[in-house]
Amino acid sequence: MDFQNILFQVNNSIAQITINRPSKLNALNKATIQELHEAFDAADKDKAVRVIIVTGSGEKAFVAGADISEFAHFDVENGSKLAQKGQELLFDFVENLSTPVIAAVNGFALGGGLELAMACHFRVASDNAKMGLPETSLGVIPGYGGTQRLPQLIGKGRAMELVMTAGMIDAQTALNYGLVNHVTTQDDLLPLAEKIASKIMRNSSVAISKAIKAVNANFKDGVDGFAVEIEEFGNCFGTEDFTEGTTAFLEKRKADFPGK
Ligand code: COA
Repeated sequence: MDFQNILFQVNNSIAQITINRPSKLNALNKATIQELHEAFDAADKDKAVRVIIVTGSGEKAFVAGADISEFAHFDVENGSKLAQKGQELLFDFVENLSTPVIAAVNGFALGGGLELAMACHFRVASDNAKMGLPETSLGVIPGYGGTQRLPQLIGKGRAMELVMTAGMIDAQTALNYGLVNHVTTQDDLLPLAEKIASKIMRNSSVAISKAIKAVNANFKDGVDGFAVEIEEFGNCFGTEDFTEGTTAFLEKRKADFPGK
């Protein structure tokens, strides 16, 4: 695949997607969002890929937000379309992938950058990371799911304060809030994400994709998450991974999941 704004590589069943516009602190312009969509889609469809890690290029930023220069002149209609299209192509898309997605937040994750990290299934951060939704300082609100996912992750009061003040929190505060799962040095960030990925890869990819669907169901309007869990739990019994997992346990050996 030929990308201008991102790097894409697959090693040891891990797809690493790196947003690569360091001179603009990896800000998400339209072209980058389209390329990210294509890369996530390709990685999710590739049976050889078991985990996706997304990170930013350079030492300063994961993503410093949506590209302000692209939307500064937009009217109401274009503003609505920007949010809708972005959510469809990237943010909702990533959240609903069946392959686990880990955000490795290596610096500023602001606005659309934090929204991308929050759309991932979970997050790890380097100790220099700074996170926030500064949109109200620009006269807009978060438009890529930030007003919904931030309260889900850190609670309504903290989310309200962060959005209203347009402030930034450091990595340690993000850890305390539960916004990120682990904090480490910048050098150890990708190795840590890969270590977690390797633990994920020991388990059934089929079961994991059903678990993602069931957990996400809790956050979808009009969907009964318990009903989704019951259905997906039942479906697991028809998979080869279930047969292998339970047989391996009873035979006191390590499971070798076929991923079917
Ligand atoms: N959109 C477009 N360009 C951006 C950007 C964004 N969200 N964030 C950073 N950039 C660009 C800057 O314009 C600058 O480009 P230039 O060198 O051509 O002038 C370059 O990235 C470096 O950023 P700079 O502001 O010089 O770095 P800094 O270290 O002084 O400040 C930030 C870092 C993150 C505090 C600052 O860049 C910032 O506030 N960015 C916008 C964050 C934001 O509001 N995001 C939400 C958007 S909805």
